[in-house]
Amino acid sequence: MDLQDRVAIVSGGARGIGLAIVEEFIAQGASVVIVDSGVSIGGEPEQPRLAEEVSSRLERTAAVCGDIADAAPTAVEVAQKRFGSVDIVVNNAAIIRDAFIFKSDAASWDAVIRSNLTGAQRLLAAATPLMREQAKNGRAPGAIVNIVSTAGIYGNFGQGAYGAAKAGLIGLTRVVAHDLARSRIRCNAVAPFAATRVTESIKPANDAQAAYKAKALRVPARSVARLVCHLASERAAHVSGQLFGVRGREVFVFSQPRPVQRVLQGDQLDLQPLEAHFADLVTDLEAFSADPIL
Ligand SMILES: NC(=O)c1ccc[n+]([C@@H]2O[C@H](COP(=O)([O-])OP(=O)(O)OC[C@H]3O[C@@H](n4cnc5c(N)ncnc54)[C@H](O)[C@@H]3O)[C@@H](O)[C@H]2O)c1
Repeated sequence: MDLQDRVAIVSGGARGIGLAIVEEFIAQGASVVIVDSGVSIGGEPEQPRLAEEVSSRLERTAAVCGDIADAAPTAVEVAQKRFGSVDIVVNNAAIIRDAFIFKSDAASWDAVIRSNLTGAQRLLAAATPLMREQAKNGRAPGAIVNIVSTAGIYGNFGQGAYGAAKAGLIGLTRVVAHDLARSRIRCNAVAPFAATRVTESIKPANDAQAAYKAKALRVPARSVARLVCHLASERAAHVSGQLFGVRGREVFVFSQPRPVQRVLQGDQLDLQPLEAHFADLVTDLEAFSADPIL
């Protein structure tokens, strides 16, 4: 078992991909604090006690019912009191409120950024002092996995808040990987594809989206959980600051932006030599339109 005696906190762990991660962690010997506010896809209150209900039927778990942006310190306290440490943090909680930028409203933007990005910062700020202390005291260094989205890499129509939050979380992943490198605590990001209530809720606007939805509904969340489990374990002790994708049996590593060509400014600026390197303006749905391998 890869995670014997390790203690994890998983935000949004009571459903979908988060729950698959929790179940895989338990199967690999870990104890898990499930933090979940039981909200709808858009973040409206729905099942506030969901984390408790799920935890009551899973061994070696504890529940914190609440918004991760508020409940992060409680989650760390519960992990320490119930299980004695914090070794693994998975920032998985997220909501979606889509709107074209020219129809977007401030309240939806704020709610998405708070759940999907601020929540991750709050949990990392609460957990990492303890994780560093543990590493100093000789405990095997821990690991962080941030669940992001290809919407934050390619962009997608109407996903301004969601894509920006996920792109922000990718940036946070790099910084946290730097900040914790001396403690040998690792931080990676995973962009998943899996059948959950979110995939089920897609209302296809065209044939391409309908085809995407049909394929996505065949991809199990467990394959995401297996990659996250690997990254959280000692088997990935040398892996930090990386951006992965996972879709069924396929695991991808994404390139990360680096300068690939340059021109020098003179009296006139000519960008033409850079054009061969311009990124195509494709959405993530277009980029991942091939059949998943299951
Ligand atoms: N399903 C996919 O194919 C897919 C694709 C790209 C990215 N993702 C990412 O994977 C993660 C999980 O997605 P999912 O499809 O399982 O979603 P889901 O809606 O099925 O589950 C999300 C869970 O998070 C909880 N949650 C939401 N906001 C919270 C908050 N602020 N505090 C605590 N709990 C909160 C919800 O109550 C819910 O239980 C998300 O980060 C999502 O952006 C999923």
